[in-house]
Amino acid sequence: MSQVEVTQSSEQKWEPHILTFCCNWCSYAGADGAGTSRMQYASNARVIRVMCTGRLNPMFIVQGFLSGADIVMVLGCHFGDCHYLKGNFACNARMTLLKPYLQAIGINPERLYWDQISASEGVKFAETMDNIVKKAQELGPIANELGVHAHGARQNKKARATAEDISDW
Ligand code: FES
Repeated sequence: MSQVEVTQSSEQKWEPHILTFCCNWCSYAGADGAGTSRMQYASNARVIRVMCTGRLNPMFIVQGFLSGADIVMVLGCHFGDCHYLKGNFACNARMTLLKPYLQAIGINPERLYWDQISASEGVKFAETMDNIVKKAQELGPIANELGVHAHGARQNKKARATAEDISDW
């Protein structure tokens, strides 16, 4: 994936980019439900389907930020509903551990959002999307935090090193 590059003109028409990891069995089906019920919600998200949130390597999330995602969302099954029994517990622990790492590399931890959405919660999925886009607009472009203009090389090098450190979590 390419690194963040923001020009003066693209800043003026900036729209938040939301990277969303959805587990196959619940949240992805919830997103599908929102779509088939023709619910209107913000279209800023790129959805990546994973079999379980327990599959998510935290490096994917850091790489998402380095690639320009203003917010990374992880949506999985409710506790007790994970098809692999404990995958969402593992994910919950990783998300909690990842936040201080994000802070350390200069990324506001509020840019990482983790929630549980079941297959029948299409309304919640649509509402979450709208709320997260508003949150991203409040936080502003990730490029500002990564210091792409002034200190991009140094900051991104540090973030990449951190991504390698946590790749075996
Ligand atoms: Fe959905 Fe594990 S199968 S979080």
